Amino acid sequence: STIDPSLPPLKPVYEPKDASAPRDESPRLAKLISTLQLQQHIEGGYFVETDRDVNRVPNPFLNTSPSASDNEQTTFYTSTGAVSANLSNKLTDADKNTNTTAQSEAGQDKTRNASTSIHYLLTPESPMGAFHRNRGRTVHTLHRGRGRYVIIHADEVMPEYDSHSGIRSKARVESFIVGQNVEKGEKLQWIVDGGKYKSSFLLPLEGEDPANNQGLLISETVVPGFEYSDHDFMRIERLEALVTKEQADEMRWMLRK
Ligand code: GUN
Repeated sequence: STIDPSLPPLKPVYEPKDASAPRDESPRLAKLISTLQLQQHIEGGYFVETDRDVNRVPNPFLNTSPSASDNEQTTFYTSTGAVSANLSNKLTDADKNTNTTAQSEAGQDKTRNASTSIHYLLTPESPMGAFHRNRGRTVHTLHRGRGRYVIIHADEVMPEYDSHSGIRSKARVESFIVGQNVEKGEKLQWIVDGGKYKSSFLLPLEGEDPANNQGLLISETVVPGFEYSDHDFMRIERLEALVTKEQADEMRWMLRK
C-alpha cells in the first residue's frame, strides 16, 4: 500500500454497489438488520441510533466554519521539527457583527446532546463507509467481524513530493485493521478525533470463505452528540489536495458516489 507498506493495497474485497441498487443480504444478515432495526446509512452500511443523552452541553463548535472544522490547531512537520499553527476558521468579531446569516445557520445551536451512540454494520451488499468527517470525537468498539479503516489526518500536514504537482504539504494517512485477532495487531477499540476524515470497508475473517461473510458490527459513541450539521463528505478535489497522487488513486473508490 502507498499508505502503509506493511498492509496490502486498499482494494475492495466486496465491491460497493450504487446507493440505489437493491440489497440482497444473506438470511442471517437480513435477520440481524431487522432485529436491531438498522437503517441504510448515507455513508454506506447500516445504522441505528441506540442512545441520545438528553443532558445538553454548550456547543463547542459554535462560531467555527459551517463545514466540519479543520481543527483549530494544525501541526506542520518541517526539517527543524514540528510546529503548530493556529489555522482556526473561527469567525472574527467583525464577522459576527456582519455575518448574521451564519449565526442562524444549522450547526449554530447553543447546545448539543452530551453524547450519542449507534450500532453500525457493514455487509457484503453494503461493504464500505465512504470518506467523511465529524466535528465530534468518536469512540468505536468492535462487536463482530473484521474490517479496514483509513484515517486522513487533515490537521497533521507535512511537506512531501507529489509527482503530479511537485513538493507540497500532505496530510498524514493512517490505516489499520479492526478485528478479534489482537495478537496480530487488530483493534477492538479505536478513536477518531473530530475533523479527521474516515472511511472503512469490510474484510473477510482469516480462513473464512469470503462468500460466508457475516458482516462487521461495531458501536460508535460521538461526543458531543451527532448532528448532520457537524458532518460532511470528502470530495474528490479535497482528497487530491490532502494526499499524494498515488494515495488518491488508491483511495478514490472510497469516496461517496
Ligand atoms: N444519523 C445519521 N447518521 C448518523 C450517525 O452517524 N450517528 C447518529 N447518531 N445519527 C445519525
